[in-house]
Amino acid sequence: MAKIIAGIGTSHIPTVGAVIDNDKMHGEYWDPFIKGITPAREWMAKTKPDVCLIVFNDHASAFSLKNISTFGIGVADRYEPADEGYGPRQVPSCEGNAALSWHIAESLILDEFDMTITNEMPVDHGLTVPLSIMYDQPEEWPCQVIPLYVNVVQYPQPTGNRCYNLGKAIRKAVESYPEDITVAIFGTGGLSHQLQGERAGLINEEYDNDWLEKLVNDPMAVKDISHTEYLRETGSEGIESIMWLTMRGAMDEEVNEVHRFTHAPVSNTHYGLVIMENKKKDEK
Ligand code: DHB
Ligand code: FE
Repeated sequence: MAKIIAGIGTSHIPTVGAVIDNDKMHGEYWDPFIKGITPAREWMAKTKPDVCLIVFNDHASAFSLKNISTFGIGVADRYEPADEGYGPRQVPSCEGNAALSWHIAESLILDEFDMTITNEMPVDHGLTVPLSIMYDQPEEWPCQVIPLYVNVVQYPQPTGNRCYNLGKAIRKAVESYPEDITVAIFGTGGLSHQLQGERAGLINEEYDNDWLEKLVNDPMAVKDISHTEYLRETGSEGIESIMWLTMRGAMDEEVNEVHRFTHAPVSNTHYGLVIMENKKKDEK
């Protein structure tokens, strides 16, 4: 049986990707960042999930405003890095796992989550930057990748609760797949940031830290937070945090936290990283 072995939350700041790609991740600005992500890289190298199922938001890179899907899943054999305006990032393309993708798509749709099925999509910084954060600069990504995207670009956005329940359905889907493979589920984006308008540059560390503590240890306390509260407290792009709720829904209610790191500012964002594992049977 396939198994979800970990939930990973991380911001997906494009600058982080550019700095890694250009071998510039050193010096006063980046030293605390690299120190904070190193334990996550070590954990990843030790744990070696077969598949990374990455819940992220496309930033109008693969999809335009002509068609907006609330939830969608890639079912391709391969995903190329998107051209976001400066040419595609010079990172490996992602090998998919079409059989597992189709299994998850079927299970989710029969569970009444109406997924868009995507045969081809370029993947933007929302997916590729988290891979760089966790794996640095390998020749090939050491895992297969399944992209699962959630709309936050166009209102109305799905609720946190719906995302949390989608996570539960994803877990059921993965755990009913007959092959013995390990899956790490990512939620990417957030934490607080606003990239435009009068409040551009907004960061709310106090709110984020409280939210993150609850996400890990008391997810029921954050799954019903309203869009208005995210907008007010975490800025217009802080809503990306609902990706993390999808990841959290795929884990047990009580988890072991393996690593947590936050730092502000990184680019325009309060950077957050968390890794959690389900408790072993004898720990419960
Ligand atoms: C930044 C963060 C994001 O999540 C994003 O999609 C684009 C930019 C930033 O902090 O610069
Ligand atoms: Fe983003």
